[in-house]
Amino acid sequence: MSEPRIIRWGIAGPGRIANSEAADFDLVPDAELAAVGSRSIDRARAFADRHLIPRAYGSYRELIADTELDAIYITTPHPQHLAIARAAIRAGKAVLVEKTFTATVAGAEELRELSRSQRVFAMEAMWTRFLPAYVKIRELIADKVIGDVRQVQADLGVDRPYDPTDRLFDPRQGGGALLDLGVYLVSFAQHILGDPQSILINGSLGPTGVDAEFGLLLGYHDGRAAALLGSIKNASPGAARIVGTGGWIDIPPRFHHPDKITLCRAGKEPELINCQPLGHGYPHQFIEVGNRIRAGQIESPIMSLDDTVAVQRILNNAAEQLGVLHAEDESVLD
Ligand SMILES: NC(=O)c1ccc[n+]([C@@H]2O[C@H](COP(=O)([O-])OP(=O)(O)OC[C@H]3O[C@@H](n4cnc5c(N)ncnc54)[C@H](OP(=O)(O)O)[C@@H]3O)[C@@H](O)[C@H]2O)c1
Repeated sequence: MSEPRIIRWGIAGPGRIANSEAADFDLVPDAELAAVGSRSIDRARAFADRHLIPRAYGSYRELIADTELDAIYITTPHPQHLAIARAAIRAGKAVLVEKTFTATVAGAEELRELSRSQRVFAMEAMWTRFLPAYVKIRELIADKVIGDVRQVQADLGVDRPYDPTDRLFDPRQGGGALLDLGVYLVSFAQHILGDPQSILINGSLGPTGVDAEFGLLLGYHDGRAAALLGSIKNASPGAARIVGTGGWIDIPPRFHHPDKITLCRAGKEPELINCQPLGHGYPHQFIEVGNRIRAGQIESPIMSLDDTVAVQRILNNAAEQLGVLHAEDESVLD
């Protein structure tokens, strides 16, 4: 049998999440971290030195032009995802784009259409969906172990000290609780229940005008519902529950990267199921992308572009109900 093809990755945006993911990258089989790009060659070189990456570029355009790369992992703040992903797809590079995929619905739709018309792989880096716990949850639901799923509930809060320059508080960096934390809650609910027909939100804004806390109710015509709470003003456990007609599944904190779940069935003792991820859980999404690229596919059915656009619609609709309008930043390639 021939050796699997090595997927050569470039990272666009040497910030916090890029550091965490690069530290887990040794656990991704048949993959190589080959290049990093930044707006500053010094920051790119410092990141490359730290993670033993052979090539460093002082612009995102140069990174995208690297002909040795198969895929670009985009880890800038949300409003810069669109411009970098668009240029990468046009250059024939697969893209794995941090959540949220873009800052606007129009941006997400544009990337979906571009990926499909150019036949280049694209996926939102919603790593949660690829963790062993969620593989198990999908199996349990498909096998009707908790009956028919009717409701989900989840929370995710962080006590982030106020700093107007921090990405979470800066509107120009796509700040706010919804796009940063709400994306996990909404993607979880959409994955389990599908696209809702109604979106109700209550919340408040912080001093810079970004959404700071919210309670979100997603409704379905047949009476199913998701109740989701998020905040950057206060910490909360980060637990989730999927409720069916024959029991429920508890996903303990933090529900977006669990290593265990508890299955609770009517009339039976709760059953703890261990689902240990690789490393900190990040390798699974890179493995998924590599497998799809090798198979000649342009999407993952587990995190499809239709799901990404549906999640983006919910998030932007909810933000707009609170008076928050997001915009893309095209200047990152200047
Ligand atoms: N999967 C996860 O667990 C997870 C966790 C945290 C964040 N994220 C996502 O990852 C993305 C980045 O978050 P982060 O916390 O890593 O951000 P960060 O630490 O602020 O880093 C962002 C990087 O983007 C680059 N960048 C390019 N244009 C920029 C601009 N106009 N303003 C600011 N930075 C710019 C910066 O690199 P240069 O200045 O060197 O170009 C910077 O290193 C977000 O979309 C976020 O939602 C995911």
